[in-house]
Amino acid sequence: MLSAEENEILTRTGPGTPMGELLRRFWLPALLPDELPVSDCAPVRVRLLAEDLVAFRDSAGSLGLIDAYCAHRRAHLFFGRNEECGIRCIYHGWKYDVDGNCVDLPTEPPESGFKDKVKLTSYPLREHGGILWAYMGPKKYIPQLPKLTFTQVPSGYRFVMKRFQECNYAQALEGGIDSAHTSYLHTTLDFYRRTESYLEKAKALRARFEKDPQTLKPEDLDFLFRTLDKAPRVMAKNTDYGLMVAAQRNLGDQYYWRFNQYLLPFYTMPPRSPGGHAFVPIDDEHCWVWTFGCQLDRPYTVDEILGMKRGTVSGPFGAEVDDNYYPLHNKSNDFLIDRAVQRTYNFTGIVGTGNQDMAAQVCMGPVTDRTKEQLGVTDVGIIEMRRLLLNSANDLCEGKEPAAAHNADAFSGVQGVSLVRSCDVSLDECVNDAIDHFDKTRKRTQELTKSSD
Ligand code: FES
Ligand SMILES: [Fe+2]
Repeated sequence: MLSAEENEILTRTGPGTPMGELLRRFWLPALLPDELPVSDCAPVRVRLLAEDLVAFRDSAGSLGLIDAYCAHRRAHLFFGRNEECGIRCIYHGWKYDVDGNCVDLPTEPPESGFKDKVKLTSYPLREHGGILWAYMGPKKYIPQLPKLTFTQVPSGYRFVMKRFQECNYAQALEGGIDSAHTSYLHTTLDFYRRTESYLEKAKALRARFEKDPQTLKPEDLDFLFRTLDKAPRVMAKNTDYGLMVAAQRNLGDQYYWRFNQYLLPFYTMPPRSPGGHAFVPIDDEHCWVWTFGCQLDRPYTVDEILGMKRGTVSGPFGAEVDDNYYPLHNKSNDFLIDRAVQRTYNFTGIVGTGNQDMAAQVCMGPVTDRTKEQLGVTDVGIIEMRRLLLNSANDLCEGKEPAAAHNADAFSGVQGVSLVRSCDVSLDECVNDAIDHFDKTRKRTQELTKSSD
């Protein structure tokens, strides 16, 4: 539970708000490169942190992100002509370059010098790791681009998609951190009801586990522990990049640890994955949910990419979108909930992991009232994430810069991890083992980069 004041600080990200200022210290995923494919292509509307902007690629290929409204009488520059290294307003022809400078002002006498006094707000926009990133903070604090694992691999080894979501970023982010919901929201009825066949399967896996745990694949371990221990103990550990959130499940003298990563300010990486999500505020009532697939052994196949887009493969995908990245399952159609499917097949009656997440996060309302919630033992990661964001925003108000924004290396190699360890191995030892995985991932991404050069 948060106070009304804390909830306001956590969720409001417009200019001048404490959280808005904190988020403006980080690079923000803004667009897919395909949205600005070639020089002088059509400009794109961008709304981030409650600011209306226009992105364009000029004749020289340079990227620009500037105030959406013309300095003259505020016509929207989305309608502008992108020509000869600038965007020209359709109303009276004023023209701006990628830095927001007015480079032509045909309606004023040239000798007036008026043109040189006109400038629009502009922000850096850079391509990196399959995304166009925006930085909306003070120029003197501009950091390095974050070395998130999926940005460090050759393009064939990653997959990036985004969807528009009708709720505040914080409640979507909380869904990404919360491990406990997967045993309900994303399950079939057979799993939920622990039917005979599922218990038989778990029994067989348990026998194999007791004989030789190495023979079990990661998904088998996951199934086994999640079937037999439905109430995980959740713990969180502060790191340079954010938090490691551990869910611990028990079987005999062994613990199964699933480490979900939270990376400041709005990234999550589920267990067993170097991919993850970003939850980027559009404004206080809408966000972009980015999904990053990443694998280190081989490039994705065309079928896998299509499957991820359509949500027909397992994983954190499953939210098909239209040409404007608006989900086909959405609030206006109740996420296409099918009560017959809910009675007979899966827990929700909604198809697709991403659609199920979205339904749970959006149905709370645009900004959930955290003064009315009652948190349980599985919400530790969420509580710690809020504390970290609120403390970081407060520190910045007092002049202390967020260290993670300026430590791109801290993000390198971070990924979700799952481990089986005997019950006498401590959380700290498991955290060290997870960090060893990061080192291996970092080395592997370096090898991949070298071999693709
Ligand atoms: S409103 Fe843009 S040139 Fe007049
Ligand atoms: Fe989920």
